[in-house]
Amino acid sequence: MNRLRDEDLGTPAATGAPVTVHVDGREVTVPAGTSVLRAAALSGVDIPKLCATDSVQAFGSCRLCLVEVDGQRGTPASCTTPVADGMRVSTQTPKLARLRAAVMELYLSDHPLDCLTCAANGDCELQDMAGVVGLRQVRYGYDGHNHFDDVRDDSNPYFSYDPAKCIVCSRCVRACDEVQGTFALTIAGRGFDSRVAAGAGEPFLSSECVSCGACVRACPTETLMEKSVINLGLPTRSVSTTCAYCGVGCSFRAELRGNEVVRMVPDRDGGANEGHSCVKGRFAWGYATHAERVLAPMIREKITDPWREVGWDEAIAYTAARFTGIQATYGSGAIGGITSSRCTNEEVFVLQKMVRAAFGNNNVDTCARVCHSPTGYGLKQTFGTSAGTQNFASVEQADVIMVIGANPTDGHPVFASRMKRRLREGARLIVVDPRRIDLVRSPHVTAAYHLPLRPGTNVAVINAMAHVVVTEGLVDNDFVAARCEEYDTWAAFVSQPECSPEAVEESTGVPAADLRAAARLYAAGPNSAIYYGLGVTEHSQGSTMVMAMANLAMATGNIGREGVGVNPLRGQNNVQGSCDMGSFPHELAGYRHVSDSAVREVFEAVWGTPIQAEPGLRIPNMFAAALDGTFRGLFVQGEDLAQSDPNTEHVKAALSTLDLLVVQDLFLNETAAYAHVFLPGTSFLEKDGTFTNAERRINRVRPVMPPRTGRHEWEVACELATAMGYPMSYGHPSEIMDEVASVTPTFAGVSFAKLDKVGSVQWPCNDAAPDGTPVMHVDGFVRGKGRFVATPYVATDERTTRRYPLLLTTGRILTQYNVGAQTRRTENVVWHDQDVLDIHPADAELRGIRDGDLVELSSRVGRTTLPAKLSDRMTPGVVYTTFHHPVTGANVVTTEYSDWATNCPEYKVTAVQVTPVSRVPAAAPAAAGAEIGAGVAPDGTGGEPAPVAVAAPAGTGSGTDAG
Ligand code: SF4
Ligand code: SF4
Ligand code: SF4
Ligand code: FES
Repeated sequence: MNRLRDEDLGTPAATGAPVTVHVDGREVTVPAGTSVLRAAALSGVDIPKLCATDSVQAFGSCRLCLVEVDGQRGTPASCTTPVADGMRVSTQTPKLARLRAAVMELYLSDHPLDCLTCAANGDCELQDMAGVVGLRQVRYGYDGHNHFDDVRDDSNPYFSYDPAKCIVCSRCVRACDEVQGTFALTIAGRGFDSRVAAGAGEPFLSSECVSCGACVRACPTETLMEKSVINLGLPTRSVSTTCAYCGVGCSFRAELRGNEVVRMVPDRDGGANEGHSCVKGRFAWGYATHAERVLAPMIREKITDPWREVGWDEAIAYTAARFTGIQATYGSGAIGGITSSRCTNEEVFVLQKMVRAAFGNNNVDTCARVCHSPTGYGLKQTFGTSAGTQNFASVEQADVIMVIGANPTDGHPVFASRMKRRLREGARLIVVDPRRIDLVRSPHVTAAYHLPLRPGTNVAVINAMAHVVVTEGLVDNDFVAARCEEYDTWAAFVSQPECSPEAVEESTGVPAADLRAAARLYAAGPNSAIYYGLGVTEHSQGSTMVMAMANLAMATGNIGREGVGVNPLRGQNNVQGSCDMGSFPHELAGYRHVSDSAVREVFEAVWGTPIQAEPGLRIPNMFAAALDGTFRGLFVQGEDLAQSDPNTEHVKAALSTLDLLVVQDLFLNETAAYAHVFLPGTSFLEKDGTFTNAERRINRVRPVMPPRTGRHEWEVACELATAMGYPMSYGHPSEIMDEVASVTPTFAGVSFAKLDKVGSVQWPCNDAAPDGTPVMHVDGFVRGKGRFVATPYVATDERTTRRYPLLLTTGRILTQYNVGAQTRRTENVVWHDQDVLDIHPADAELRGIRDGDLVELSSRVGRTTLPAKLSDRMTPGVVYTTFHHPVTGANVVTTEYSDWATNCPEYKVTAVQVTPVSRVPAAAPAAAGAEIGAGVAPDGTGGEPAPVAVAAPAGTGSGTDAG
């Protein structure tokens, strides 16, 4: 685990038939299409190079990689010359040495000779190559025209661009184009004046750049360099671990100098990301050492008392005594716990075990309740297991990609880059979303169809697509006959005229002709894949919609091979894992119902204690029971209920009735305002365990430092359980995973030793699939036959009225993450320092709202104020905001309507009104323009008017801030 430089074979791999060549007398067999440079590297011969790197296509500009080929005239560049069978190549001849030295001499004549003080000293390919070609002096001197005085661009908070050191190799431009897909960079000017330019030559911060870091990684010199390396020095060691932000689950090398993290470098061997990253994982890790982190336990009798710092022993004893006391008075069902999708599988497994074994009830739920619980329900009903069907690489085989209720370029950026690459290769795109998200039109990507549906009408739209498929004879009859059941009932249902595109055109807002055409495109495939997000699940019909998508995929035969499938894009890093580990009140690990006595017996034998057969309380039931006075104590692991759950005032009212609220987190969050015990949590840099990403990939999370709090979360849960009378202990988190494997058939083959050996595996991983399962349901569905389920569309009870005529939908932005607890404590705030309300110009004009004005957003349950941003991405009648900042508290307006099957809240549909509060000063620029790289003061201080504090409706909640 101590690798600092990747092997670089010069050009990407090829896939042709094998051919054999000889390089300096060494025979090597490679696929046709391989470059001579790569073939040489594979044979063990390193040809000098500068402009080539194996993450991007060859460009052939530096002329350092010249070779001689028997029977050919001249000295071709080996990076752009493909191998031919029988080719004989010489890489080291006096002529080549002369030519390379001359090339290098030209480079160095326009390069500041400050190697000894350069931050890249020892990690610079120009320096290396000068040594390789044996250049000792530059004959031309350094007095001619040069770029030494070119001005450095430090606008980006994380990396700098020093054009004086640029060799115009274009690796950065190609990385931005090919790897990231943003096309933010160009080489401007010609000849001597050639320059790397971000956008139209503006500073990086205000350009289209999304700070993914791909260009920084690709740069062979110090031109593009992490500021952390410039400030701290080059790293000396590394630890392989996994990003703790989104469900893509990117693998990284945490690179350290001494014990200090210097940079996070995306791992090329990472199964999910293959060397790519986004701004959050790559740069936004500083929160782990932020001054506001709480590092010691704290307790208080009443929430109006000041916190008192205590040792771990006292905190555990106090918590155990109070939980036990509540149970003695109110019964064993009066307490419960909530697990976190930000924690490791091991931490989650132990916490739910603590609830089931030590608390003696099934009152455990997880924050996945409020995001992807309908995925679990819907895919289990139709396919037989609660997980996405594909690995991420599968998208490279897709011909038609349908994105529904997801915004991958912001929410799942590294997967979005992979998807965009496939779209640039020619795959067709259907976007189903009320907003015109970036994917609809971005550089070299244009959606074939954008269906801008009215929020809350997903099921009507997907049923109409199914109607087209069935009534126009587009069903894959062989697949359905061989693999599925209950088709006829479903087909009769979707064939009804009321399911037709024409019948739902008015209610959905989607033109029938577009809907029909999109359905035909999806059915034609041949490989059609669905990717979806919280815009599907967070609805009153979230589970219905998941089943409706599964129906459509089965009807068209788009399940069970690469390039197809139904794929949830998970929100948090370990949503999949927290569900897998048995965090739901009705299921034990591996999605097995607690009412199944055979399943319970497996766990009871290992845990040595009975498990209740009745499902416990879900999060909303816990709140209701708290308000009823029957639920009195709650342990919350890493979730900010008071900011992330809907109808904030209702949540706060419930929390404030509890006799004991225990919050475990990194920072004093909004929920901690109602807590009696605060237990400090660890950041991902301290954790030792595993995360499971959206493609069921189990990745190792390795500690780069010991827990700054002195205790791992799993240790705390063990000690608390023990203090409550159920002895629980493990020597190491690997033992927890061993226990998971022993009681969970889909994890039977998983162990830390295996993960350390192979990198990662996708469950199911067991005797039947020892190497894991990249694509599910290949020869049959997990439940045997895939089951069609009729999915009638039922409009949500949340309706627009004259008083609340607009529909609010919520989401997130690239640079921030969920409630912002982590990203708000990094320099990412330079891009998004406040939540804003996107509103269509026509809706704004009607209300006299100008760009940047402060507006009140009100719904039936609450109101808040925030700046407005006029955006024609919005459909008229629909407004949109993020929920990253507690000062805005967007969830104060969201309602308690929820999915009929799982209680997942209906965040995506709230009837609202928007009214102006105060005008942005006429002279000021649009204050709310906090789009990436635009509208924010370059110094990162913002300077915009602060949103007004959350305004609760009269008589509800205290609005207490945790400080
Ligand atoms: S950091 Fe910016 S310029 Fe560099 S590759 Fe990423 S998007 Fe492109
Ligand atoms: S910035 Fe770096 S990668 Fe880009 S052209 Fe200059 S030297 Fe090459
Ligand atoms: S895409 Fe997700 S997992 Fe990957 S670096 Fe970004 S936030 Fe982390
Ligand atoms: S590495 Fe081949 S031309 Fe630059």
